[in-house]
Amino acid sequence: MDNASQAAERLLCWYGRNVRALPWRLDVSPYHVWLSEIMLQQTRVETVIGYYERFLKALPDIESLANAPEDLCLKLWQGLGYYSRVRNLQKAAQVIVQRYGGHMPDSAKELIKLPGIGDYTSAAIASIAFGQAEPAIDGNLLRVFARLTAYGEDIGDQRAKQSARAFFLPLMQPENLTEAAARALESVSQSLGAPVNLPGTINQALMDLGAGVCLPNGEPLCSDCPLKEFCLSHQRGEERRYPVKTPPKARTIENRTVLLIRYGDRIALRKRPARGLLAGLYELPNTKGLLSRQEALEYARMLGFAPLRIQELPPARHIFTHREWRMIGYELRADELTPLSPPKEEAYLLLAGKDEIKTSYSIPSAFSVYLIL
Ligand code: ADE
Repeated sequence: MDNASQAAERLLCWYGRNVRALPWRLDVSPYHVWLSEIMLQQTRVETVIGYYERFLKALPDIESLANAPEDLCLKLWQGLGYYSRVRNLQKAAQVIVQRYGGHMPDSAKELIKLPGIGDYTSAAIASIAFGQAEPAIDGNLLRVFARLTAYGEDIGDQRAKQSARAFFLPLMQPENLTEAAARALESVSQSLGAPVNLPGTINQALMDLGAGVCLPNGEPLCSDCPLKEFCLSHQRGEERRYPVKTPPKARTIENRTVLLIRYGDRIALRKRPARGLLAGLYELPNTKGLLSRQEALEYARMLGFAPLRIQELPPARHIFTHREWRMIGYELRADELTPLSPPKEEAYLLLAGKDEIKTSYSIPSAFSVYLIL
């Protein structure tokens, strides 16, 4: 038995004992796998579960997603962040309906042509939903690979992805499946009450190993690792040296002032521009800089409100990938909407009731401290 067979066997036996019955593992239709993989990018499993179930209840198939109003998609995504993911999901659904008769293509090569589907997602869908031997190389698999092989180069490089792919590919070849591994695969299927395939199971076992054992921050739990005997960095006692990564660029810091403007029972909102950060989402009116009370009152007047009262709200911070907002806020009560329309550079404002805000407007979490309903 060679190393790949042994490693696959150990991994599958470990997974058979530890598999989590996550909702997208119970029904591996391509739409379900696709949606879960998009949601799981940059978002924790525990957070995704509720969103995933709610999304599928509202938009149960590719066709309903393709035809849904964009605001509904954004609302279903509210709080998950990285909203371009859901925009692309919908665009891809429209392409699937128009070009593929509503059926997802079954190869990584075709899948990768769809909006929002890259190397990782195409491989995840092709393996989990269609049983194709495609290692799905995300941060977890790269870290596991780097530690197993004591990979000394930057894992951010394309070459690292290719090496990881070549390294994991033999684990998903049926000729390397031992009898014990086949039994373990069967026990995964029994635990989930759903059919499984070898490539999809290897990928998900590696993802879980990366997330739960070969930990990203802090000490990896090597004593629990089914692959420790194959792990070069473990043998050398150098797990913490890997993976090698160039540090990310520093974030730009931006000061902003956010206004919670109440008008009767309603609150002033504005739609963000169709492009750029948080595109097309709704927000509380806000502007660059830290405004004094007086300046905030003037800003509100400029937006068309005649504020009667103003009260400071606590400062808050929100961290995006490449940007950080440091915010202060004011709550204003306005008594009169002047007939003046806002100046050109200010987007259109609307007044929304509390229930409407809850059900219909997607407001990014950056504003949640100030959105006092
Ligand atoms: N992270 C990304 N994809 C995953 C999956 N299918 N299961 C668990 N965690 C994941």
